[in-house]
Amino acid sequence: MLCGWVGKRRDHGGLVFIDLRDRHGITQLVFDPSEVKAPELHEKAGRLRNEYVLWAKGKVRRRPGTMANSTMATGSIEVVASDLAILSEAKTPPFVIDDEAEVAETLRLKYRYLDLRRPSLQKNLLTRHRMLQIVRNHLDEHGFCEIETPILYKSTPEGARDFIVPSRLNPGTFYALPQSPQTLKQLLMVSGMDRYYQIARCFRDEDLRADRQPEFSQIDIETSFLDEEAFFPILEEMMKKLWKQILGQDLPTPFPRMSYKDAMSRFGSDKPDVRFGLELQDISKLFEKSGFQVFQNALKTNARGLTGSIRAIVVPGAAEKYSRKDLDDLQANAALFGAKGLLWIKVQAGGELQSPAAKFFSDSEKQGLVQQLGLKEKDLVLCVADPRNKVVCESLGALRLTVGAREGMIPKLGEGKPAFLWVMNFPLLEFDDRDGRYYACHHPFTSPRPQFFEDFVAGRNLDHIEASAYDMVLNGVEVGGGSLRIYRQEVQQAMFKLLGLTPEEARQKFGFFLEGLQYGTPPHGGIAFGVDRLAALLCGVGPIRDVMAFPKTQRGTCLMSESPSEVSPEQLAELGVSITAKRD
Ligand code: AMO
Ligand code: AMP
Repeated sequence: MLCGWVGKRRDHGGLVFIDLRDRHGITQLVFDPSEVKAPELHEKAGRLRNEYVLWAKGKVRRRPGTMANSTMATGSIEVVASDLAILSEAKTPPFVIDDEAEVAETLRLKYRYLDLRRPSLQKNLLTRHRMLQIVRNHLDEHGFCEIETPILYKSTPEGARDFIVPSRLNPGTFYALPQSPQTLKQLLMVSGMDRYYQIARCFRDEDLRADRQPEFSQIDIETSFLDEEAFFPILEEMMKKLWKQILGQDLPTPFPRMSYKDAMSRFGSDKPDVRFGLELQDISKLFEKSGFQVFQNALKTNARGLTGSIRAIVVPGAAEKYSRKDLDDLQANAALFGAKGLLWIKVQAGGELQSPAAKFFSDSEKQGLVQQLGLKEKDLVLCVADPRNKVVCESLGALRLTVGAREGMIPKLGEGKPAFLWVMNFPLLEFDDRDGRYYACHHPFTSPRPQFFEDFVAGRNLDHIEASAYDMVLNGVEVGGGSLRIYRQEVQQAMFKLLGLTPEEARQKFGFFLEGLQYGTPPHGGIAFGVDRLAALLCGVGPIRDVMAFPKTQRGTCLMSESPSEVSPEQLAELGVSITAKRD
């Protein structure tokens, strides 16, 4: 007996073949008048159309030799139907439900329930389900307790804008949807719950990209009394199980660790893709006495005692492959990260260096370049100089990815060995030149590493203080991030002071939380993994919407339900809300 949807129907003059589709795959049904003498049955089979839901009963038989289909899991058999019920008819769907069909994404999203009939999307949802089962079992085995926290709640500091919800019972006041359960999971540690986890929904109003949705899920974890050395193996083992049980791959553990400094200076990213080379090289020393204005400016020391740098990546053998237009495009790419220009240098046949700035280079600078970068004929050097190191690294880091992809150096999605690593020792604070103040790099509850406590409380060497924060990175994607938390009063107060929060403001924003920390807070820390990103990586797909049942568009809309949508004047009046702007 089989139930399912008519995926495909072929009528060979009375002999009817149906590809019957359900969650588990496709099976061929045959209505064969020469086998089963039942005119009514064959008349009914003739009425079947695509996407009708049916129930059928019959005998499984081996397909005759030449009819076997080796590309189908059930291709060597078919079911000769002896009974049929049409459970439901279907309108002609707006597109063919088939993984191969080219259909506009907007149409797919409008009819998401039909799109979700596609085998590839069903497989993704099932993989995601399997992943969460493995996670739940693993965390349970390690004594983590699943606890739900509220969605109607208060603003949490994760750096995005809040979604807010007006309260009818308390006019003029609003809930904020949690950007993460951060403060609540820390309070659960104060409660003595010791080890918590939750598959948590998070809401962030931020600019969306292929790997960012306004509403997404985290595997949110918090634990007391563990430091990184005790905590990381539990998390690594979880990844190990996922990759083994879902993909059959063995992950070597422990995962390598890299400092933020190394990640930025070698890969130009805090989530380095270490599966290929093209590493950044610092060539500042070579040009300390440069006659090139751009280089001179980059190496001046600024008011805060910081110097910029000149860095380069070498693309082997690429000199002739990159046209002026290609190089202009790369420059535009670098400009998105603040680079004021991109200097290219090509090694010509015979070793001569060709570059718009070649005339400013002395012979010893040229020799130094060739030597330090190990340049060979036809190599292409891409170089950025800026007084802000971060700009230099990030723009070259972006170029590294663009060029790496163009050169075919990056394994395709779902291919090659997964490259996990921890990025550690992040800076605690980041100075914002425009606002003239510090911001917390992670969130304001992240602890400085213990050896920096003293400096931190005294407000010394703030640019150099490292945080007990860590990210788990896989193939250049940040799959998780967390930290050990501040649990000492004086450190938390110093943090708020530094961030420019008056005690009054701090109380207003986090009063309940700060109050809670005064009643016996254990040392604690945690992490959150992006469920959608992990699932996408396990499924070998790019955009996270492919592993979400009902994703939103880049504009944060749902094309199926047409939300967000307007509400009635009565609802607004009840909430005491008036509208001052409307979408066009
Ligand atoms: P963080 O903000 O780094 O940390 O988020 C943790 C992980 O969540 C995923 N993620 C997202 N996935 C999809 N769409 C988004 N818009 C999105 N934003 C984040 C990423 C990221 O690594 N409370 C802290 C965790 C902690 O300190 O314990 C937090 O939320 O994979
Ligand atoms: P210019 O002197 O403006 O003609 O610049 C000469 C070359 O230096 C051009 O190829 C620019 O793209 C490049 N350039 C300008 N500013 C920078 C910078 N900050 N870093 C790297 N190259 C730059």
